[in-house]
Amino acid sequence: MIRLPASEETTISSRTAIEVFGSTFQNPILLAAGTAGFGREVAGLIDVGRLGGIITKAVSPEPREGNTPPRVAEFSGGMLNSVGLANPGLDRVVEHEIPWLERNLGSARAVFNVVGSVFDDYVTVVTRLGAEDAVTAFELNVSCPNTDRGGEEFGADPSVLAELVRRCCEVTDKAVIPKLAPDLDGIAARVQAASEAGAAGFSVVNTIPGSTYGKSFEAGTDGLFKSRLGSGPGGVSGPPLLALGLSAVAKVSAETSLPIIGIGGIREPNDVVAYLEAGASLVAVGTAALADPRVPTELAEWWDRPG
Ligand SMILES: Cc1cc2nc3c(=O)[nH]c(=O)nc-3n(C[C@H](O)[C@H](O)[C@H](O)COP(=O)(O)O)c2cc1C
Repeated sequence: MIRLPASEETTISSRTAIEVFGSTFQNPILLAAGTAGFGREVAGLIDVGRLGGIITKAVSPEPREGNTPPRVAEFSGGMLNSVGLANPGLDRVVEHEIPWLERNLGSARAVFNVVGSVFDDYVTVVTRLGAEDAVTAFELNVSCPNTDRGGEEFGADPSVLAELVRRCCEVTDKAVIPKLAPDLDGIAARVQAASEAGAAGFSVVNTIPGSTYGKSFEAGTDGLFKSRLGSGPGGVSGPPLLALGLSAVAKVSAETSLPIIGIGGIREPNDVVAYLEAGASLVAVGTAALADPRVPTELAEWWDRPG
């Protein structure tokens, strides 16, 4: 259970719904992409409709099996994942996940996370899902390799990021929100380029690259330390991201007045307050909800508490 501070410990006084991305979010608490599937995965544990919303697992045109297991590893104070953007693909999402969300979302919003290997992958997903009423907005995962550019991440070059945002905006009226990595040096140029291309806001931040090693004691191994993830390196999430995420949100907020979804290491109400004070309008909770699925709904209840 999380510790809920008395309201006077916080400085956020307006506990109202939030109007952003052309929609009303009943509270600022979202589930972070990839950590709660399409909502169904956590529905037996929490009331998804109580949240501000869910950011779905990444959706690509074709199903993706993801990386070799093990795909997650805990380390002292944090977590490493290399899921490889495993997802059921666009057809299955439309046929299976959207109807479930329509029945179960209640007043919560659904933001769809999108991935691809080429521009057209993103455009295909955004075009098709954009026709669905259940979809409030798109979050573009731009931390994945662009095969047309030798595997360079879509978010690495501001002009590529801008082109991606522009092409997605051309095929939908819904909000297009690139998700930025916590690269403070280049973040201002990316924000400017994506804003000019039509971005409705920014998600800040995605995971940062990391590795963790452990000695394998299984019979037949050489006894050397090896990666604890099946595919080698991964993305760091959880408490180590809190300070980076806050810095990045403050930096993005200084560059733009567009709404920001603050992400990284959020667990306590005071973390939410810190992100809002840094400039976020909404926040998303990932690793803390993997450790305890009740955390996001408890944060939503804290938000609604009078006082
Ligand atoms: C297991 C796992 C899967 C994730 N999958 C995605 C994904 O599909 N798309 C994406 O943009 N981010 C993905 N992320 C990143 C999270 O959405 C979030 O940005 C990151 O974990 C930082 O938040 P946290 O510290 O609260 O976990 C994933 C993170 C984890 C731990």
